[in-house]
Amino acid sequence: MKTKAAVVGGKSGKFEIDEVELAELRDDEVLVRVVGVGVCHTDLICRDQLYPVSFPAVFGHEGSGVVEKVGAKVGKVRPGDHVVMTYRACGRCPACRRGDPTHCAEIFGCNFGGRRADGSATVHRHGLPIFGNFFNQSSFAAYALANEANTVKVDSEAPLEYLGPLGCGIQTGAGAVMNVLRPAAGSSIAVFGCGSVGLAAIMAAHVVGCTTVVAVDPQESRRSLALELGASHAFDPTQGDVVAEIQKLGGADFSLECTGIPAVFRQAVDCLAVPGVCGLVGAAPLGTEVTLDMNNIMFGRSVVGIIEGQSVPDEFIPRLVALFRQGRLPLEKLVRFYALDEIDQAVRDAESGQVVKAILRP
Ligand SMILES: NC(=O)c1ccc[n+]([C@@H]2O[C@H](COP(=O)([O-])OP(=O)(O)OC[C@H]3O[C@@H](n4cnc5c(N)ncnc54)[C@H](O)[C@@H]3O)[C@@H](O)[C@H]2O)c1
Ligand SMILES: [Zn+2]
Ligand SMILES: [Zn+2]
Repeated sequence: MKTKAAVVGGKSGKFEIDEVELAELRDDEVLVRVVGVGVCHTDLICRDQLYPVSFPAVFGHEGSGVVEKVGAKVGKVRPGDHVVMTYRACGRCPACRRGDPTHCAEIFGCNFGGRRADGSATVHRHGLPIFGNFFNQSSFAAYALANEANTVKVDSEAPLEYLGPLGCGIQTGAGAVMNVLRPAAGSSIAVFGCGSVGLAAIMAAHVVGCTTVVAVDPQESRRSLALELGASHAFDPTQGDVVAEIQKLGGADFSLECTGIPAVFRQAVDCLAVPGVCGLVGAAPLGTEVTLDMNNIMFGRSVVGIIEGQSVPDEFIPRLVALFRQGRLPLEKLVRFYALDEIDQAVRDAESGQVVKAILRP
């Protein structure tokens, strides 16, 4: 079928609205009418080719919508169901078989390969195959072709237009806290970078009962939003020594790096108490290196890399929807809506920091 999509023509190019053609639905695939799709920093690092993608390309990987059609063997969802599209894992490797999909051996190819696993294209333009199937959805479009495996049915009473970011940015931050770091009530955490990922981590830290929640971000508006969402302290890293400030509070039992900047990662490790665990979530260009003090680690600090909040989406996303509905994960405070053809404005607002989570409404 034909649909309209935001297509990027080349490295760091503009998003242009164009007509594209979606491939025929396969037995295990799901056609979704996109109701909302968040703009994530990862869309922009791919637009800028920090990951090896090709052009023209259709990005978008935080889509929510209504199931329009399902392939013959799909049992999980039916037409009319409300769904969130999320990341894709292969379903066959040892990690997938033990129920640990974020450690899938094929995860990079599944999400950034631009085509299905067998090499076929899901998106064509002017009759030619283009880079699509981004996170098995390419949802900067009116319709998206997803797979049963990365389609999560959600409560139809929840406002669907807000839910797309649960499929990436929000589950990344909230899951890093709730699934991996698992801070005990009364413990402390420092979150570096208060974009949607960091703010989701702060909301989750508040939900699980952290009593010292430090937000670090150079942008004043993001620090004040962090305080509103449950942070107990907020520091501007351009004013003074953030590590010393956090150590004055006794050091952080947990920290989370949500910027992708090597120097910030270093601070997130150095601010830890002993023992302390730093979660690394921020995405840097492939090959980026960082320097750490070996003794700082040896005395009882550790670092863990976390993909998509180590979430098993079918289980975790409905829990996040329930927290949202109860007002304990107030996503609406992060969001501004745009039409699909306002995507360039949405991206500018996200990059300038004016809006935390831009959601396009195709
Ligand atoms: N690991 C994963 O699975 C996963 C999933 C989604 C996103 N990501 C990555 O997570 C990161 C955060 O995503 P986002 O959408 O929230 O991005 P974002 O750009 O909205 O947020 C980044 C924040 O970092 C702040 N920042 C800049 N310099 C800083 C400094 N020196 N100290 C502290 N903060 C600083 C910015 O002001 C901004 O608020 C990105 O790198 C993204 O690619 C990773
Ligand atoms: Zn796998
Ligand atoms: Zn993302």
